[in-house]
Amino acid sequence: MRILVTGAAGMLGRDLVPVLSQTHRVKGVDLENFDIADRIAVAGFIQAEKPEAVIHAAAYTNVDTAESDPATAMAVNGRGAENVAAACREVGARMILISTDYVFDGEKRTPYLESDRPDPVNAYGRSKLEGEILARRALPSVTVVRTAWLYGTGGESFITKILAAARGRNRLEVVTDEVGSPSWTVDLSAALKRLLEAGASGPLYHLAGSGACSRYELATELFSLLGIKNCQLEPVSKESFQTPARRPEYSALASERLGLENIEPLRHWRETLSEFAALLSSQI
Ligand SMILES: NC(=O)c1ccc[n+]([C@@H]2O[C@H](COP(=O)([O-])OP(=O)(O)OC[C@H]3O[C@@H](n4cnc5c(N)ncnc54)[C@H](OP(=O)(O)O)[C@@H]3O)[C@@H](O)[C@H]2O)c1
Repeated sequence: MRILVTGAAGMLGRDLVPVLSQTHRVKGVDLENFDIADRIAVAGFIQAEKPEAVIHAAAYTNVDTAESDPATAMAVNGRGAENVAAACREVGARMILISTDYVFDGEKRTPYLESDRPDPVNAYGRSKLEGEILARRALPSVTVVRTAWLYGTGGESFITKILAAARGRNRLEVVTDEVGSPSWTVDLSAALKRLLEAGASGPLYHLAGSGACSRYELATELFSLLGIKNCQLEPVSKESFQTPARRPEYSALASERLGLENIEPLRHWRETLSEFAALLSSQI
């Protein structure tokens, strides 16, 4: 299959392009190729390439700066997704739009399913939800894939931030009241490949690491796997941290659709974290 991946230089894109390239002809594009907020540039590029499928991973992903610049977040995540969808419609390409757990308000205490109603609590979440809606309006066959708490070797994540923060400190506070589904970009890439190859055409799938944990549990497990003993992790409430954007307290995802369509879900977050930690250790 000829596949175009937007956001190829981002954290997910850097793993997604090589994983898909194992069996497909893949072209990765990023901001240097075109700005997804520029409708004419998007249409021109996709018209020239005529991909059979587009995985749209490019996004404005800074949750905190989105709060002070919601217009840019909306232009990129909302209308940008619409631009890609409209261009896919013109060339008859199928589209997978990558979205987020942050479309939910975090009030639930069991994993959010595809049938749960989104109600974002921050500007980033609102812009991503708008992207889902506008893309579907432009291309009714679009498949939205919501994922969560990404980490990988190709970008900044909670994991890279916590490791950087621990350097030179003997104590680090980590919140217990933010719970989610950590997802390794390599595992998500493999699941996206399975989804494409299975011809899955449902409107919406949740693809995130199985299970759920708090930021504190995630950091504790990571430090244990990496043998970090000189920095003590302290559990705290998020009231101790002021951030410009409010985050959902609970945004774990689970899928009721993957099982129905016999598509293998992502592995448990502990299993993939352990593989990721082994990879990090081998690179030191
Ligand atoms: N990271 C997470 O925890 C998380 C969780 C749930 C869902 N997601 C979603 O997963 C997808 C991939 O996330 P990620 O973590 O890989 O993001 P990322 O590392 O920030 O990568 C996004 C890529 O999109 C590019 N981009 C930004 N604005 C653009 C524009 N106007 N035109 C073209 N390209 C543009 C960025 O380029 P620059 O770097 O040059 O700006 C970057 O290379 C996104 O849709 C995100 O919303 C992420």
